[in-house]
Amino acid sequence: MLKTGHHLSDAEIRARYDALPHRGGLGPEFLDRVLRLAGDLDGLTVLDLGCGRGELLAEIARRHPRARLRGLDVSAVRAHAALRATGARAALVGASAEAPPFRAGAFDRVFCTETLEHLKAPERCVGEIARLLAPGGRAILTVPNATGFAPFHRLGRLVPGRWLRSKLLPYEHPANTDQPIDTCFTYGEILALVRRGGLAIEAVAGWRYVRWLQMLPVARTAYGWCAPTLERLAPRLGGVRFAYNLLLRCRRAADGATRPPRP
Ligand SMILES: C[S@@+](CC[C@H](N)C(=O)[O-])C[C@H]1O[C@@H](n2cnc3c(N)ncnc32)[C@H](O)[C@@H]1O
Repeated sequence: MLKTGHHLSDAEIRARYDALPHRGGLGPEFLDRVLRLAGDLDGLTVLDLGCGRGELLAEIARRHPRARLRGLDVSAVRAHAALRATGARAALVGASAEAPPFRAGAFDRVFCTETLEHLKAPERCVGEIARLLAPGGRAILTVPNATGFAPFHRLGRLVPGRWLRSKLLPYEHPANTDQPIDTCFTYGEILALVRRGGLAIEAVAGWRYVRWLQMLPVARTAYGWCAPTLERLAPRLGGVRFAYNLLLRCRRAADGATRPPRP
C-alpha cells in the first residue's frame, strides 16, 4: 500500500485542502454512476462525508427535491463552496469524517466518494458510517483502485521527474497528486477495509477499466475506441477488480441480509 502525507498534522492537512478550492470532482458520468447505485433518494435523509465542493449534493438536490441533505468536509472553505453549490439546500458542517458530529442511525444514505484514501484512519471513518446508518440504510463508497492501475501502481515511484509522472501516472497516484495525504489501496485492501469497519458489501461496480492504457501515447487512440465495449463487457466477465474506480454499495453488517434499495 503506497502512502504519502500521513506525517502531516491535521491542521496542515486542513490548511492544504483549504488551498485547493478549485479542485473539483470526477464529473457528470461519475455522479451518474454513484447515484444509480444509491437508488431513489426522495424523502430520505442523506449525508455526504468529505463532500468537497458539493457536486454530488447539488446533483442529488436537483434530482431528488424531497431529499434532506447534509454534507461534511474537513475544509470549511470547501464546505462553504458546497453550501453555495446546493443553493443552501444542504446543511453543511466543517468537521472530520473520522469523527462526524451526528447521532447514531441518523441517515438513510451515507455517501463517501473519493475520500477514504485521503484519511489517516479510513477504518475509523467506515466504522462511523456504519454507526450513522439507520437500520436498512445504505452507504455508497468510492475509492480509486490500484489493482486497476497495474503495472504503474508499484513502478510509479521509480518514474523520474514531475513532468514524466504527470504523463505516466494517474492524478490519484500518491506520486502525482496535489492532495496533501493519499493512500493507494489495491482491490483486496479496499474490500477488507470496508468489511473491517463494520459494513457488508452488497454490490461492487467499476468505472474506467485498464485505464493505464489511456496513458500510453500509442495505445490512447485504440483505448478510446475500446473503452465503451470494455465498460460493458468487463463487469460481465468478472473483471471489476481491474476498474480504476470502484463504487461500492454497502449496508451495516449488523443488519444481516436485507432487500437492496429500489433502483
Ligand atoms: C478528492 S476530494 C473528494 C471530494 C468529493 N467527495 C468528490 O467525490 O469529488 C477529498 C475530500 O475529502 C476532504 N477531506 C480530507 N480529509 C478529510 C477528513 N478527515 N474529514 C472530512 N473530509 C476530509 C477534502 O477536504 C476533500 O474535499
